[in-house]
Amino acid sequence: MTNRNTEFFPKDLQDKLRNQFYFLDSDLNGNKRIFFENAGGALRLKSAVEKYVEVSKIPDSPVRDYDIAQMINQDITDGKKDISMLLNAEGGEIAISLTASKIMFEMITVAAINLPKGNIVTTSIEHPSSYDACEFSSQQYGHELRVAKADQGTGSVFLEELLSHIDEETRIVSLILTSNITGGMHDLKKYTQAIHERNSEAIIIVDAVQGAPHELIDLSKCHVDGINIAPYKMFGLRGVGFAWLSNRLACMPHHRLLATAETNWDLGSATPAHYASFSKIVDYICEIGMYYIGETDRRTLIEEGMNRIKLQEQAILNRLLNGSETIQGTKQLNNVMIHFEKENGIDQDLILAMTFSNISNNKAVEVYKENSIQVFAREASSHYSKRILESVGLDSLVRVSPIHVHNSEDVDEFLRVTKIINNM
Ligand SMILES: Cc1ncc(COP(=O)(O)O)c(C=O)c1O
Repeated sequence: MTNRNTEFFPKDLQDKLRNQFYFLDSDLNGNKRIFFENAGGALRLKSAVEKYVEVSKIPDSPVRDYDIAQMINQDITDGKKDISMLLNAEGGEIAISLTASKIMFEMITVAAINLPKGNIVTTSIEHPSSYDACEFSSQQYGHELRVAKADQGTGSVFLEELLSHIDEETRIVSLILTSNITGGMHDLKKYTQAIHERNSEAIIIVDAVQGAPHELIDLSKCHVDGINIAPYKMFGLRGVGFAWLSNRLACMPHHRLLATAETNWDLGSATPAHYASFSKIVDYICEIGMYYIGETDRRTLIEEGMNRIKLQEQAILNRLLNGSETIQGTKQLNNVMIHFEKENGIDQDLILAMTFSNISNNKAVEVYKENSIQVFAREASSHYSKRILESVGLDSLVRVSPIHVHNSEDVDEFLRVTKIINNM
């Protein structure tokens, strides 16, 4: 197994990046806080928020032919181009909705309505937005629902298990890129190519909401028909979800103003500010890439930037687990259990899934909070977590989800508090 990177960003880059986020060291009330809850909504980039505000001030409709209107229309065009470039998608369509869940439901139901009756394959660790869309569509449109089981050790779904549910009657396969609860990642290239080999007609839909902020996506190497992202999990804003759709999926009959192109998924007045804001996120990723390789084309910078983010997050995860010469890591504490990470190795997202043998997970979250660290307990009592936790054999876990702008001091403070909890 390849070793996880242990080198953090150089200090000058780290400082430059940290300055670009709101509330990195303190909360809204000005109280000191380390925000390790980014899987519930990531720290915000100032530039993404400022751009949204700047463009939102403009009253003009983007579908007019004068200068200001054209300028904000260009924001939409550029934003769509940036989303495609982030995913390295050729052609196809960009769709927008209020939430990532809504756009996921739309993609899955459109495919389910338009394809002949067959089966829909999903997994036990999908977020409810895709799982429920598959279940709903199966019930409404007469497909059989098939659910691939998760492996309890890795918190991911093995390819063989997924493939065992796919046959010539499979119409849709829905796969999460990275679980927002276990942190288990699926190799998109390997999985989608294998699904496509098994059934080249199946529509493949991917939930990249958790994966996109943490790893490079390259659709040119994958077989994907629909994939969604959520800016608020990727340093941007709530209130919007984006998707890329292949031409095949995009041109299936769907809700559309009928005078517009067959593949158009825009319905109603566009919001240029959402696209302009997202372009700032892509600019930021490029800025990281540029630090390492200098000026070059935007996709190359995105690749470098995302790969560097991933390396930094591996270093954070490594320190969380193994500590340093001066502080013990979570793995060295006798009352702490870390799930999934060991089996996943470098295929573990920056999510530490912990349980404690001496204290309830909810109590542990309280103690973290009292010590100015925000984490979250995923509990089976929540409909967002129940099925997923049960499928990996747990009823609760403490989810710790930093992002790449956190540094070794943040990690060490977390470890200091974890030791207090361990000794309670
Ligand atoms: C993996 C994953 N998919 C989809 C979603 C749905 O996002 P939203 O609630 O914004 O629709 C989430 C949100 O937590 C998520 O973590």
